[in-house]
Amino acid sequence: MSDQHEQWLARWREGRIGFHLAEPHPRLVEYWSCLGLAQGSRILVPLCGKTPDMRWLAAQGHEVIGVELATEALEAFVAESDQPAAHDNDTRFERWQQGAITLYGGDFFHFRPALAGELAGFHDRAALVALPPSTRQRYALHLAHLLPPGAAGLLISLTHAAGPAEGPPYSVDEHEIRRLFDANFRCEWLRSDEDARGQGMREHLWRLVRRGPGAAEA
Ligand SMILES: C[S@@+](CC[C@H](N)C(=O)[O-])C[C@H]1O[C@@H](n2cnc3c(N)ncnc32)[C@H](O)[C@@H]1O
Repeated sequence: MSDQHEQWLARWREGRIGFHLAEPHPRLVEYWSCLGLAQGSRILVPLCGKTPDMRWLAAQGHEVIGVELATEALEAFVAESDQPAAHDNDTRFERWQQGAITLYGGDFFHFRPALAGELAGFHDRAALVALPPSTRQRYALHLAHLLPPGAAGLLISLTHAAGPAEGPPYSVDEHEIRRLFDANFRCEWLRSDEDARGQGMREHLWRLVRRGPGAAEA
């Protein structure tokens, strides 16, 4: 296991999860419908933690697939609901199924299309910005590998003044978003706001649509 992985597991163990929000992210609630994704369609939440965004997406009628390194986070997520849950670890990933939500415990970079199934979209809040500079291009390529042409998602990134090497969360500006994603996604900036945690951080909301044959080019 890498040092970065150890650091995330230690954060969860020690409860250093200041990024966690008890309520669904306001930008998700406000902007999700602009993606126009059908009820019943499957949504990927990479590096999901125990975000209630997943329950909100399920309540909109989606099947939700969450992927998270810290199984402790996924256990906590499952325990927050009375809904029965099934658990197995047949694959390289530990898996929980609770209603329309399926959670995979393991490294996102080992998550394969065969497990993801036919995805229609994704929701990245604080996933890209959790990763150091050297890993972010790999993340953008892996996301593209998992999503078919036309799949759409929201990406909520962050900038701060502490410098590009300081994180997590890392500061990822517009130039970098376009450099990482433009080859495989149509990227549209939607808005920027102060991050609720203050500390001079700003959150930036993007809509991304996977490019490729059959995907509408607006
Ligand atoms: C900043 S948190 C964001 C969690 C969630 N998206 C939210 O909004 O609360 C980043 C999460 O990514 C997880 N993580 C880091 N590297 C990962 C990897 N390679 N595979 C899966 N999860 C990872 C961490 O354990 C942590 O829970």
